[in-house]
Amino acid sequence: MNDALKIELPQITKANGLGTGPIPIEPYISPEWYEREKKQIFGRAWLCMGRVEQLPEANSFITTEVEVCGVLVLITRNKADKISAFHNVCSHRSNMLVLEPAGTASKFACRYHNWSYRNDGSCLGVPDRENFFDLDLKERGLTPIACDVWEGWIFINLQPEPEVSLKEFLGSFGEAFRDAPFPAAEQFFTIDVGNMRANWKVTIDAFAEPYHVPVLHTATVGATFANKLNPFSRPLSGNARGSHRTLTTFGNPDYTPPEDALVERLAYGNVDTGNVLGSDVNSLDAGGLQNHPAINPNRAPSWATEIAWMFPNFIIFFSPGGFFSIEFWPTSVNTTRWMAKVHIPVAQDVRQRFQQEHHNCRMGEIFLEDVSNLECQQKAMESGAKKEIILQDSEFLLRHSIETVMKWVEAATVREVLK
Ligand code: FES
Ligand SMILES: [Fe+2]
Repeated sequence: MNDALKIELPQITKANGLGTGPIPIEPYISPEWYEREKKQIFGRAWLCMGRVEQLPEANSFITTEVEVCGVLVLITRNKADKISAFHNVCSHRSNMLVLEPAGTASKFACRYHNWSYRNDGSCLGVPDRENFFDLDLKERGLTPIACDVWEGWIFINLQPEPEVSLKEFLGSFGEAFRDAPFPAAEQFFTIDVGNMRANWKVTIDAFAEPYHVPVLHTATVGATFANKLNPFSRPLSGNARGSHRTLTTFGNPDYTPPEDALVERLAYGNVDTGNVLGSDVNSLDAGGLQNHPAINPNRAPSWATEIAWMFPNFIIFFSPGGFFSIEFWPTSVNTTRWMAKVHIPVAQDVRQRFQQEHHNCRMGEIFLEDVSNLECQQKAMESGAKKEIILQDSEFLLRHSIETVMKWVEAATVREVLK
């Protein structure tokens, strides 16, 4: 590695004030630790549920489940365009109220005895109401869940009275990414892997470090994230931002598809792709992403991705051509529901459409390489052979994540962690 490159590749872990020692495996495999995470992290943190574009018009709704806390969630946009969240539970005998994953409705009726509710949560009607005892409909609306929106992202908080606002929770991360562009936010496809057998931290860690990319992803994108000058794909910057964190990964500017990669060559032709995730660096500076100060903050010319990890379980990946996000929802100590939403703009011509399809299929291949590896890692961790994992500087995000997890699990109050 030459001297010039050493200057471009910063030391990150120490610069962010983190330790350098081994990390215990216990939090990745212990049922007792998982019980504490449920209460102290997922029961107290603001959790990202998706984007406002998933509720595209007045009376849109979506439903979901936060399995880790056993909570059923209904999110609505009412006719005044206010987005609200409720427990998706009927006030009569606690049946699940809305079964559809998404739709449009100004009111909801429970299929059990037909109690009905407006999409602002108020109780609208009760059949044979006179036969109840002192029933006051005003007291029988849906149970609200704290809900707020940041830059088009919808968050909920499962504390009945959240200790801190969403703005306080996001802190310097929210400030840094203020006005970040989200091109093609309304157009996305979902890759839902479902439940995989690995702890949620094992799972999310695999999407937060470039060290593995030239090795695990040799068959797909290894060569697009490393070159002779940066053979181990060291990152270009990394920043701890309160409980959240970011990392800029390197993209090989000299990458061209190999001779025998016929489909890839057909898709990209002689375009300087830079990296596959960016789709087409030259023609797509989607929405001015490359100009935002928090994205590739060191202005490195060969950047591939800005990994923006919002604590605890949500990552937005910005690249020159657009963005995608991945949610990692714990469903037990060693299972995780994994779901990606990939946003792509409307293609302007057939070639671009073909390129997009190649990109989307390639994303699927990369994810499969990651996912198949993780279940083996979880099993090996549970074998008890090792008590610790070792992290290097490129794995900065993982160290900041586990240190933050430990702080939240130990802290009596949220404010104590954020101060
Ligand atoms: S449980 Fe919903 S109407 Fe009875
Ligand atoms: Fe990977």
